[in-house]
Amino acid sequence: MSEVKVAVLGASGWMGKVHTMAWQSLPHFFGVAEARARIVALVSSSPDTDTLAARAPGARILRDWQEVVTAPDVDLVDICLPDNLHYPVAKAALLAGKHVYCEKPLADTAAQARELADLARAKGVITRVGHGFPRNPVHDMAREIIRSGEIGEIRLFKGCQHVDVFGDPLAPMMWRADGTLAPTGIVGDTGSHVFSFMEFLVGRVSSLIADNLIVTPRRPVAEGQGAASQDWAAVTNPDASNMLCRFENGAAGIVDFSRVATGRKFHQAYEVYGTKGSLVFDYDQINRLHFYTNDDRTGRRGYRAIDVGPENPNYSAFLPLANFALGYNETKIIEAWEVARSVVTGQPMWPTFEVGHHICQIVEACMQSSRERRWVDIARI
Ligand SMILES: NC(=O)c1ccc[n+]([C@@H]2O[C@H](COP(=O)([O-])OP(=O)(O)OC[C@H]3O[C@@H](n4cnc5c(N)ncnc54)[C@H](O)[C@@H]3O)[C@@H](O)[C@H]2O)c1
Repeated sequence: MSEVKVAVLGASGWMGKVHTMAWQSLPHFFGVAEARARIVALVSSSPDTDTLAARAPGARILRDWQEVVTAPDVDLVDICLPDNLHYPVAKAALLAGKHVYCEKPLADTAAQARELADLARAKGVITRVGHGFPRNPVHDMAREIIRSGEIGEIRLFKGCQHVDVFGDPLAPMMWRADGTLAPTGIVGDTGSHVFSFMEFLVGRVSSLIADNLIVTPRRPVAEGQGAASQDWAAVTNPDASNMLCRFENGAAGIVDFSRVATGRKFHQAYEVYGTKGSLVFDYDQINRLHFYTNDDRTGRRGYRAIDVGPENPNYSAFLPLANFALGYNETKIIEAWEVARSVVTGQPMWPTFEVGHHICQIVEACMQSSRERRWVDIARI
């Protein structure tokens, strides 16, 4: 099979739009020799039919995801639905023998994620979770440096991700702050992105202690009413978290993330310290890595800034020169390309549902640790 027939579920939303664009873009950047993708169905509970039809000419426009998970003309089910639908939809698709590409977080609980990973293995299908940030080619460079031993044994990882959507205590309530609709709050939503970097660069986490905080306990329900609101809703999941962890390889981690960092529109950064050098990344310089090595001679040591460039094939697919900047959407195109290639070659690529399960384990351990005020071990299951 060199053509992968795709159904995009949640097609009208943000990720649905991005994934649809990504599938349609593959020939532009990656050609058609190795793999092709064709969108055969777009599913949305609230479809703007004309727009969706224009985005993927020839695709069926449907309202019910049940119609595509068993459809004979669908090879790959691409899930861009709200979090609570990931598990039931992925399970139905796997039972029907489909390859599955699911947005993050893979599931609401680690047990659900485990079940999905086991089912996928039993069915022998390709799986992929949409933890796309580490697929920015700059992080391939970081992983290559770490794996080559250039910065020695990894001792410490520091990572963070912050936004300020809830920095203002009078910003109106939204579903993301409702523990019945989003049980893990910022931990599953944003923490999971930092956890994906930890998994990609350092390895599995073996234990952690987290302090989750609800910074603003109630919010006005309607936009624009502020303190005059007659109607307030309780914030029932974490706004922020500070976490310490240990990795299986002995490294330690310091991690923080929140939705209340006033002024931080989108802040994502990490630092990796080894016995011979270190790496520093900041999303504000999205394709640039800062690299320090003890191999430089005394008196000349310092961080050097390295821009990922066309030596990385995923970068050169887009641009012939370094420092032209690949952004979020290009990273999603790379992700879709890797999924298509995995389906065609039968070779899974990071992050599979196994990795998605480990990230769900970290999320769950954060919730348990904060609730019970103690370190929590993460078993290898
Ligand atoms: N990887 C990333 O960087 C990233 C970024 C944003 C969101 N996400 C994840 O992507 C997923 C979707 O988030 P979003 O921001 O695109 O949400 P969204 O609200 O913009 O879109 C969700 C879509 O699903 C549709 N939908 C809801 N219930 C449905 C149902 N029962 N049947 C069919 N369609 C249904 C809605 O109509 C909407 O079009 C979430 O799991 C989120 O965590 C990932």
